[in-house]
Parts: sequence; C-alpha cells; structure tokens
Amino acid sequence: MGRLSGKVAVITGGTRGLGLAVAHAYAKEDAAVVVASRAQSSVDRAVADLRADGARAAGIVCDVGDVGQVQALAQHAVDSFGRLDIWVNNAGISAPYGPTLEVSPEQFLSVIQTNILGTYYGSLVAMQHFVAQGSGKLINILGRGDKQPTPNQNAYAGSKAWIRSFTLALAQEYKKTDVGVYAFNPGLVLTEFLSDLEVIAGHEEEVQPLKFVMRLWANPPEVPAQKAMWLASSATDGRTGLSVTSLTPARLLGGVLKEGWRIVRRQPAPKVTLNVRSVPVHKA
Ligand SMILES: NC(=O)c1ccc[n+]([C@@H]2O[C@H](COP(=O)([O-])OP(=O)(O)OC[C@H]3O[C@@H](n4cnc5c(N)ncnc54)[C@H](OP(=O)(O)O)[C@@H]3O)[C@@H](O)[C@H]2O)c1
Repeated sequence: MGRLSGKVAVITGGTRGLGLAVAHAYAKEDAAVVVASRAQSSVDRAVADLRADGARAAGIVCDVGDVGQVQALAQHAVDSFGRLDIWVNNAGISAPYGPTLEVSPEQFLSVIQTNILGTYYGSLVAMQHFVAQGSGKLINILGRGDKQPTPNQNAYAGSKAWIRSFTLALAQEYKKTDVGVYAFNPGLVLTEFLSDLEVIAGHEEEVQPLKFVMRLWANPPEVPAQKAMWLASSATDGRTGLSVTSLTPARLLGGVLKEGWRIVRRQPAPKVTLNVRSVPVHKA
C-alpha cells in the first residue's frame, strides 16, 4: 500500500514541469491525482501520460487566477474521485527578467494574478473543504526571492515572498485543526520555466551566469517531487507551518564538490540549455 493510498490530490499547473512530476510521485504512492492548467491540449496530454504510468488521473482546464475556475477544479476532483485530501498550489509564472520600470504593468500584473491570486484562491477553496472535513494538506510552492529582495525579478520574487508569508500565517490561524499547511521551495528545477527565459532587451548577458548555476544546482523535477510527496504524506501530520526547501546547504556543497571533481578529472561540462528570448523595454 502506497504512502498516499486512498487520498485524492489536486495539483495546479500539473500538466508539465514540477507539477506533472509531483502528480506522478503522488500517483506512485497510490493517490488519485487531478491536474489542471490553462490549455485543454496540455491537460489531455498530462492525463494520458499519467494514466499510461498506471495512475488514477483526471484533469480539467483551470486558470488559477479565476476563482470560479478554481472552485470548478475542486468540484471536478470530488466528482471524479469522491473526495479531496491534498492541494498543491504549484502554477506559477515569471515576468521577463529586467528592472521593474522596464517591465510592462500587464506583465507585472499577470504574475500577481497567477502567483498571488492563484495561490489565494486555491488556498481558500482547499481550506474551506479541509477545515469542514477535519483533514487535508495544503502545499504552496515558493521560489526565488521568497526570503529576500531579488532585483530584476521583482514581480516573481515579491509574489513568492507574499506566498511564504501568507502560507505561514494561514498555518498559524488553523493550527488547532488537523489540517496541514506547508510552504515548499523546490530549489532550481530543470523545467521550461528555468530554461526558456524572457529577458528585457539589453539585459541578455546578465542571465548567462544562470547556465553555471544550473549545472551546479539544478535538479530534475523528480527530485523535489519526492519532497512534495513527503510533505503530503502522514510523515508531516501534526507539523503544520513547515517551510522546507530542496536547496539545502548539503545540496549546495554537493553541487560544488561534484563540479570540482569534474574539473579535477578533466571531464567535459554537462550541457545545459538556456533559451533567451528578448522582449522590448516597456515605455511608459
Ligand atoms: N523551475 C524552477 O527552477 C523553479 C524554482 C523555484 C520554484 N519554482 C516554482 O515551481 C512551480 C512550477 O514551476 P515549473 O518550473 O514546473 O514551471 P513550468 O514548467 O513553466 O510549468 C508551469 C505550469 O503551470 C501552468 N500554469 C501557468 N500559469 C497558469 C495559470 N494561470 N493557471 C493554471 N495553470 C497555469 C502551466 O501550464 P499552462 O501554461 O499551459 O497554463 C504549467 O503546467 C512554479 O510555482 C514556480 O514558481 C520553479
């Protein structure tokens, strides 16, 4: 019997990248999974992929920035599998890399809409359900800048700082219930989000060091997905308010040692893909 046997999990943004890996990890532990994102074709592909892997899986189109669609997602989970036990607010986007005044208000606001409002709506809908049933696990995904100001990624980092603060406050508010509320920073994950960057024209060179950083510290999504599985399991019962990261000091040191060992042995550096697309500077 798997560690999530009998549980039903919703993963927003679960159609690729980290979200899809989390869905696979949960399904491997016998959870039924419901994935959602904005395009029907992506949802269909992800559900087929999960079912081909033996998962009990369903999916629905849902833009997390729309509270009605988030409510419909929760209902879809209940209609498909009869209950709801785990909710992962994973859907997240970034504005183009660059100084705040060069990013358009539309680009800035789309990050707020998905990352902040999306996490708020997902938390609201999941917590209403969990508090009423007296159990459940809510996992909100953090990211770069969740603990410190991050120049040139102000919308993204600000949204992640907000998610961290919001999540930990929510955990305190509901600590007397049996609902677990957790914040999880997956570290650097090898997904399109990391490898396909939009950069404000004139700042392209500034993101090039990311290749080196990725080589040292980025993980395939299956690695942080295991941590997300642990968070969703009974291992975290009674530990609401946990804020965990995949990028631990041990992993940071491990990445440096691995790179050092590679240089000593004169092995070629593994290839890292970084696609940079320039976008025009916003003019007020
Ligand atoms: N990759 C990293 O290095 C890294 C590091 C730290 C934290 N994170 C966080 O981890 C999470 C997942 O990132 P990822 O790397 O897996 O990104 P990704 O590969 O770009 O996947 C993002 C997923 O979210 C969906 N999505 C985007 N906007 C949405 C919206 N408004 N409503 C519903 N779904 C939406 C996408 O599908 P559609 O576009 O088809 O809707 C896709 O399924 C994000 O919260 C990110 O901030 C990532």
